[in-house]
Amino acid sequence: MTLENLKQKCEECKGCNLYKTRNNLVFGYGNPNADIFLIGEGPGENEDREGLPFVGRSGKLLDECLEKYGLSREKNIYIANMVKCRPPENRNPKSDEVSACIGFLKAQIEAVDPKIVVCLGRVAASYFLGKDFKVTTGHGEFFEIGGRIFTATFHPAAILRNINNKPLFEEDIRKIKEVI
Ligand code: URA
Repeated sequence: MTLENLKQKCEECKGCNLYKTRNNLVFGYGNPNADIFLIGEGPGENEDREGLPFVGRSGKLLDECLEKYGLSREKNIYIANMVKCRPPENRNPKSDEVSACIGFLKAQIEAVDPKIVVCLGRVAASYFLGKDFKVTTGHGEFFEIGGRIFTATFHPAAILRNINNKPLFEEDIRKIKEVI
């Protein structure tokens, strides 16, 4: 299915309750033929207002770190989230909300067909890399799943909370760049 068709289906989706409180669907953004597919948790307040992923402070930090290695949403990155509608009060998405939305994300990954999928933070990593996966110890490792390379790194918001981890985050991005 094309990204446009998928987006239309997401606009109409009532698979969980999050559509009732969202302002805008946050489908995903970036190069539709990107080599790198980043997965966040869910839209926050800014993203819900603008309809785009990672447009707040954590998005700025993410873009700066990507830029350092010649990566950008326009050139070689596509970004989406585990859920496409904002969970109220910025809470983590619940498992029934992820279950309702995950088919869209998987179809999106198939449509973009990236060389590598990068889980940003625990919510995405525990879904794709196993529920006991720990980002603090497992970040920057590569896994082959279903013929595609997956990895995980810190969520950019976690880097804002603990700036000491920024060099580790940047090193993970450097290694991801090497894969493509
Ligand atoms: N945090 C996320 O996980 N995703 C966004 O789109 C914004 C903030």
